Amino acid sequence: MRWAVLVGGTGSNLAAILARRPAVEVGVVVSHRPGVGALAIADQAGVATEVLTAKGFPDRDAYGEALRAIFRRYGIQAVALAGFLRWLDAGTVAAFRGRVVNLHPSLLPAFPGLNAVRQALDWGVRVTGVTVHFVDEGHDSGPIIWQEAVRVGLDDDEASLTAKIHAVEHRIYPEVIGRLDQGRIRLLEGRRVWLDGPLDDGGEREQGTRTDG
Ligand code: GRF
Repeated sequence: MRWAVLVGGTGSNLAAILARRPAVEVGVVVSHRPGVGALAIADQAGVATEVLTAKGFPDRDAYGEALRAIFRRYGIQAVALAGFLRWLDAGTVAAFRGRVVNLHPSLLPAFPGLNAVRQALDWGVRVTGVTVHFVDEGHDSGPIIWQEAVRVGLDDDEASLTAKIHAVEHRIYPEVIGRLDQGRIRLLEGRRVWLDGPLDDGGEREQGTRTDG
């Protein structure tokens, strides 16, 4: 499958995905903001880039149409969001059902939206984590593919906790994308998701091969 990666920030997850090439083919990187680190990473890797800001688009649907025009131009079959801070429209979600994924730096449904690491610290949770999920029309609400917990250390601040979360993201997001690409993860009906086996958690192994969201 040829992937589009949608970005808007530093691009550390994009770099982790690009490290999976050639097994994972990335056809284009689209940013909703100009001048971000993710675009430089794509350039350096020789991957085509497009910048699509919200400016000039009356609503989410119009933006989504422009996004899909880019996808058509690059023959895109699957989409990975990595720091892309715009909600996808219903048309894009429907066109890519089961082939559009997002990464969120908390254990959803806790702490959706922006600044999830800050939210977790402010709430005082002792465990937070990373969620990889299919994208639906809601806000960080799509069917969950995989989650991994990250313990909040007593001395953690936003920077140190973000670093721990990033380390997990960089391991599990490319793995999910690679498995989706190979048909080893599938969105079933409703929120049900099939995986061919648990992801390696980088240490302790877990049991079970199916999540019901
Ligand atoms: C990640 O923490 C991801 O969870 C969130 O946005 C951040 C992107 O970071 N959706 P980067 O641009 O990949 O470094």
